[in-house]
Amino acid sequence: MFYKTSEPHGLPHDPFKSCVVPRPIAWVTSMHPDGTINLAPYSFFNALASDPPLVMISFNGYHAHGGEKDTLANIKATGEFVINMVPLALKDAMNVSTANVAHDVDELALAGLATEPAELVRPPRVREAPIHLECVLQQEVELPCTLPDSINRMVIGHVLGVHIRDEVLNEGLVDLTRIKPLARLGYMEYTAVDGVFVMRRPSEADVMKR
Ligand SMILES: Cc1cc2nc3c(=O)[nH]c(=O)nc-3n(C[C@H](O)[C@H](O)[C@H](O)COP(=O)(O)O)c2cc1C
Repeated sequence: MFYKTSEPHGLPHDPFKSCVVPRPIAWVTSMHPDGTINLAPYSFFNALASDPPLVMISFNGYHAHGGEKDTLANIKATGEFVINMVPLALKDAMNVSTANVAHDVDELALAGLATEPAELVRPPRVREAPIHLECVLQQEVELPCTLPDSINRMVIGHVLGVHIRDEVLNEGLVDLTRIKPLARLGYMEYTAVDGVFVMRRPSEADVMKR
């Protein structure tokens, strides 16, 4: 089949998110200026560059209780956030943290998670997460939005510091099979990285002699 995205696709659910997979999940801790901690998952998320390390998160729509989603509002207000990696073992806690609760509800407590301080920013890290990226706001980008009364907004973050739990390092390399990072597919589907293989990049000579 082919469909123009400006016209009905005729399928029971929008297939778009299943066509760009798997998407990593940024489990974001941020802080309201009054000190309230917020935790929420975002899968329109990726790395953009490594020198300097840059990441992006895209916010779609408003908070169910009105206004911007708490994570976006907090990042704009304080300029700081932490991205916590979600291991498969924490999938249920991640799911609790996406519930549409009031602005002042602490999702960490709801999900039964603990925190520990970050080194360089004020929002804390999720203690149970194996990897944390401490970020500062680099740029906010307004994106087109075709839904009425809605927004699409991208935040680019500069990663200032990275924590990697010692147990997930194997001879100095991050062993993702020890983490099984959770990732988002389409619909309500998820996957996790539970197998890894290596491919060396060929040289020009390698590909030209075929
Ligand atoms: C796995 C997962 C990925 C999500 N990704 C996004 C996303 O990329 N952008 C977005 O606006 N909402 C996304 N959501 C929905 C937000 O998590 C949800 O709106 C949440 O209530 C926002 O919380 P906050 O207001 O505390 O930031 C996602 C939810 C789940 C479960």
